[in-house]
Amino acid sequence: MAPPRATGREQPSLIEPDDVALQKRAAAKAAADEVLDGMSVGLGTGTTVAPLLSELAGRDLRDVRYVASSPATEQAARALGLTLLALDDIVPLDLAVDGADQIDPDGWLIKGGGAAHTREKIIAAAARRFVVIASAEKAVRELSPPVPLELLSFGAFATLAELGDAHLREVPPSPDGGLIADYFGPIDDPRTLSARLAETPGVVEHGLFAPELVSEIVIARPGGIERRAGAKPAS
Ligand code: 5RP
Repeated sequence: MAPPRATGREQPSLIEPDDVALQKRAAAKAAADEVLDGMSVGLGTGTTVAPLLSELAGRDLRDVRYVASSPATEQAARALGLTLLALDDIVPLDLAVDGADQIDPDGWLIKGGGAAHTREKIIAAAARRFVVIASAEKAVRELSPPVPLELLSFGAFATLAELGDAHLREVPPSPDGGLIADYFGPIDDPRTLSARLAETPGVVEHGLFAPELVSEIVIARPGGIERRAGAKPAS
């Protein structure tokens, strides 16, 4: 069995955890500042999104409607008084904001360390603008395994055998009943691997996010905020 969560981030990190938390909040605040009255906004999942929720709740915003990508985000957002709706009630979204496990120099992401990548990808695709927020250690020279997967439970071991070098993760199924797994094979070319994973029967979704899904990447570094443009067409 694979470890419960292996993110493939660059090691060793010289950044103290407190600094990482401060960077996550700084990136979250920069994204929260993009939310305007009347917008519809998709919310990702994870420890970088957590400060985003409190930053949003602390602003005097009116008539902003949110969509959560996971039960954890939904619960936290509700507790802060944010208004949540179903995605299909407000699609297309004006904006979606989410974290990432790894970000490469070409704008490819690995997501799904928190097992929410299927809903996160649907929300990212449904948003006119998708902003990724991250602390500095998420920016890597090249992506490294594992790539999170969500699998249909029917025939999951056949799917794993077809993929090769993939293992179920010891976490509960997704809210949609999918099994969470990780692909540990090489990522020589993210686009080629992305196509191969997407074409494998039984793979519901994988955690490689192409640059075309992303509008902007906000990376908080010790010296300030770095903004990288994504390749999502403006609409
Ligand atoms: C959840 C995700 C998260 O965005 C990713 O794992 C980063 O998490 P964190 O912000 O806690 O470091 O993809 O499925």
